[in-house]
Amino acid sequence: MSGNVLVVDDEPVVLKSCDRILTPEGFTVKGASSVKEAMGLLQNGDFDIVITDLKMPEMGGIDLIRWIKEQNPATGIVVITGYPSQETIKDALHLGIIDYLPKPFSPALLIDVASKAVSFVKSKGVEEIKTEEHDVSEKANEIKNVIDTNRNRPGGLIPVLQQIQEILGYLPPAVLRLIARGLNIPVSEVHGVVSFYSFFTMKPKGKHNIRVCLGTACYVKRSSEILAKLKDLLGIEEQEITEDKKFSLETVRCLGACGLAPVVVVDHDIHGAVDPVKVSEMIREYD
Ligand code: FES
Repeated sequence: MSGNVLVVDDEPVVLKSCDRILTPEGFTVKGASSVKEAMGLLQNGDFDIVITDLKMPEMGGIDLIRWIKEQNPATGIVVITGYPSQETIKDALHLGIIDYLPKPFSPALLIDVASKAVSFVKSKGVEEIKTEEHDVSEKANEIKNVIDTNRNRPGGLIPVLQQIQEILGYLPPAVLRLIARGLNIPVSEVHGVVSFYSFFTMKPKGKHNIRVCLGTACYVKRSSEILAKLKDLLGIEEQEITEDKKFSLETVRCLGACGLAPVVVVDHDIHGAVDPVKVSEMIREYD
C-alpha cells in the first residue's frame, strides 16, 4: 500500500513507532509534534491521511481536524488517543474522521487502519470535496472532464487552472490537491503556479469584484480614500467578501490606465477619475 501519511503527536515515541511500522509497508510518513507544525506541513505537502492525537498542548487534535476539514477536506483523518472519552470521539466522528485507534495500538492494527483509510481516500472523487464557501460537488463532472482532457498534455497545468477557475470562480486548496493528483504532479508545483500568476485566486469572489488601483498615479489622486470609503460602505477589508456574497474587494498596483487615475474596476467595467465622495453611487449600479 502506498500513501502519504502525516502523524501528529506530541510524544516522539509515537511518531517514531508509526514511521517504523508504516514505512516498510510502502507508506511515506512524516511526523509533526504539534498542531502548528502539522498545519505548516499540510499547507505545503500532499497527504492522503493524517493520523492525529487528540490531546496535545496548546492546540488539540479537534482544532486540527476542524482546520483540515476547512482547508483540505479531501484529506482522510484517523484519530489516536489514550483518552477515548465518548464525548471527544463523538466530536471527532461528527467532524468526519474515518477511523479511531486507541493507544497503545499494535503494529498490525495501525497498518490495517492506515491501509483502509488511504484506500478510502483514494477511492473518493471530487464529489466528496466541499469547501467552506462552496460545494464543489455540484461541478464535479465539469472539473473531472477538465482534468481528464489535459491529463497527458504537456503544459496542461495552466489551462486546467484557468478552466477550473472559470467554473468555480476561484481555486480552493482542496481543488489544487485534486488537480495535482489528477495531473500526477506535486501539489507544491500547482500552488507555486497559482501564487505566481495574479489572475489565479484561491479566495472566493463576490458576485461583483471591485479592484481599487493603488499604483502611484492613482495613489496621488486619492485612491486610498476610495479604498477606505469602500471598506466602510461594504464592511469588509481587502481580499474579503461581503456576507451576502455580493461584493469582494481587492487592490492592485497599476491597471495600465494611469491617464484615467484614480481607477476602480468593477467586474470588467473600468471607472476612471473616480471621486471618493461618489463611490456609493458607483457601486449602487451593481445589483
Ligand atoms: S497607477 Fe492606477 S492605473 Fe496606473
